[in-house]
Parts: sequence; structure tokens; C-alpha cells
Amino acid sequence: MLEIRNLSKSFPIRNAFGRRIGEVKAVDNVSFSIEKGQVYGLAGESGSGKSTIARMIMGLEKPDSGDILINGEGLADRSSGHSRAVQMVFQNPGSSLNPRRTVGQSVAVPLVAHSYSGNRQKRVGELLEMVQLPAHFAERYPHELSGGQKQRVAIARALAVEPKLLVLDEPTSALDVSVQARVIELLSELGQQMQLTYLFISHDLSLMRNFARSVGVLYRGQIVETGSAASVFENPSHDYTRLLLASVPVISEEEEAMRPKIPLIDGEMPTAETLLALRQSRQTEHHERG
Ligand SMILES: Nc1ncnc2c1ncn2[C@@H]1O[C@H](COP(=O)(O)OP(=O)(O)OP(=O)(O)O)[C@@H](O)[C@H]1O
Ligand SMILES: [Mg+2]
Repeated sequence: MLEIRNLSKSFPIRNAFGRRIGEVKAVDNVSFSIEKGQVYGLAGESGSGKSTIARMIMGLEKPDSGDILINGEGLADRSSGHSRAVQMVFQNPGSSLNPRRTVGQSVAVPLVAHSYSGNRQKRVGELLEMVQLPAHFAERYPHELSGGQKQRVAIARALAVEPKLLVLDEPTSALDVSVQARVIELLSELGQQMQLTYLFISHDLSLMRNFARSVGVLYRGQIVETGSAASVFENPSHDYTRLLLASVPVISEEEEAMRPKIPLIDGEMPTAETLLALRQSRQTEHHERG
């Protein structure tokens, strides 16, 4: 369904006066593929290049080099760069829905864009029911919905034009933990019903473990580990993967708030060594606290 070959993308780094002083390799020679109907998980810390890959797949950003094939077809072959076969669900449902549009109007946007010929209102109702919302929610405005409900609306909108591939960029990270699992469950059910292929981007490895069949771990723009979710998570071979896994269990929000944040120097990713050292000092601290 999706094949990514040797994909690379760099961005210029500029100083305060706008002068180019270097470049960051946001995506560095990345290759992976997803079979039809499968879920591929892309994991990695903030800044590792996940969204840049997503944006290139969506045709929102041009790769420096490499190929993106969807159903064997290159991006250049797709007319407007925005194909109905590929849709995306973004991290923040609050900002991806227009606050001045009703839910129904938002869900109908892709129907209008792709000149849907059937009864639009009926289709909107069906789509809302597909994501387990009552059809009358079409009359509501985003501010009248919870975070999880908004994300369901965003999923309904993405499904409106019957895509083959859904790119989910941190689809649940803005949601409460209890709601996250239910949204993943819904995506999983819909995927099976509609034979959807998913690229699931997340830094939450516990969610990924349950959802993705195979995973790739990104570190500074490169895939440092890949394989079945079971093998990568049960038996990680790379230090960075082990570190990501070690930071999974979060017991409470207070604990999370107390965790030292990883220092970012000039927006640069810390090295794996720094991260490991931090992790170890964190553990020592934990032992000392009792
Ligand atoms: N338009 C841009 N201009 C300059 N640099 C960019 C641009 N977009 C991304 N970058 C840089 O590319 C790198 C990868 O960014 P990206 O957004 O892909 O990371 P990410 O893995 O999605 O992170 P997060 O988990 O925080 O969403 C970062 O160093 C980022 O600063
Ligand atoms: Mg991102």
C-alpha cells in the first residue's frame, strides 16, 4: 500500500539575521513499507522527523530525494498532490476543526472538495455513526464537544472520501489517557471493517504496542530499529529504543510533572548517551527517594 524508499529532507538552520548557518537532516535516508490493511507504527522522540515524513507522504512537503509510492504510484503521478486515497488525522483536534463551522459542515468539507454526488447530509450522518457519535451531533459546534468527541469528528472527516491509507500523526496525544485507548479501539475496528492501512505516529509506545503490527524507531531522522512490534518491544536491540521503552510507564500526572525534562540545547536532540545518562540519574534519584 505504501512504500517509502531512501527518503531524505533537510531544513536550513538560520541565525537571528536569517543567514543560513547550517542544516538539520530532519529525515535521513528512511525506507519502510506497509502492506494493505496493516498498521505500521513510527516511534521516536520529539524532533526525530516523524511529522516531516507524514507531511511528505501527504504531499505537503517536498522530499530532497527518495520515493513515496502509494499503491505503486509515485507522488508526482498524483494530480494535485492531495489524493483522496490518503488522508491525515492530526494531533490536536481542537485546532484542526474550524470553530465557526458545525460538525456537519466540517465533515462535509472533503465531500464538497471531491464533489460527492450523493445526499451529503445523509452521508455526514452515516460517517458520524461510523465513529460512534449520534448523527444529530452534525448540528453542534466544536466547543460543545469533548476532546475525544472532536477527534472522532476529525476521523469521520478523514474517512469521508473513503481513503485507503490514513496517516495518524499523534492522534491521541492531546486526549486523556482513558479516552486514548477508546479512540485507538475505534480506529482498530474501522481499520478492520474498511480494510484501511494505517501509518500510526506516536511517542507513546504502550499504545503502539497494542495497535501496530510492525514498527520503526526514528532517531535523528534515521530508522535505528525496525521489526514486528512484538520483537522490537520485547527485545529491543538499540539503546535508544530501550530508553524510549523505559520512559513508558507514567503513573500519575503529578509524577509526570516531577520528571526532569530532557534539556534541549538550541533545539538539538540530545545524543543517546546523554539520554541514557539522564535516565540513569533519574533512576538513582528515584531509589534515593525511596
Ligand atoms: N519547516 C521547517 N523548517 C525548519 N526546520 C524544520 C521544519 N519542520 C521540521 N523541522 C525540523 O526538523 C526536525 C524534525 O521535525 P519533526 O516535526 O518532523 O519532528 P517530530 O518527530 O514530528 O517531533 P514531535 O514529536 O515534536 O512532533 C526538527 O529538528 C525540526 O526542528
Ligand atoms: Mg510531530
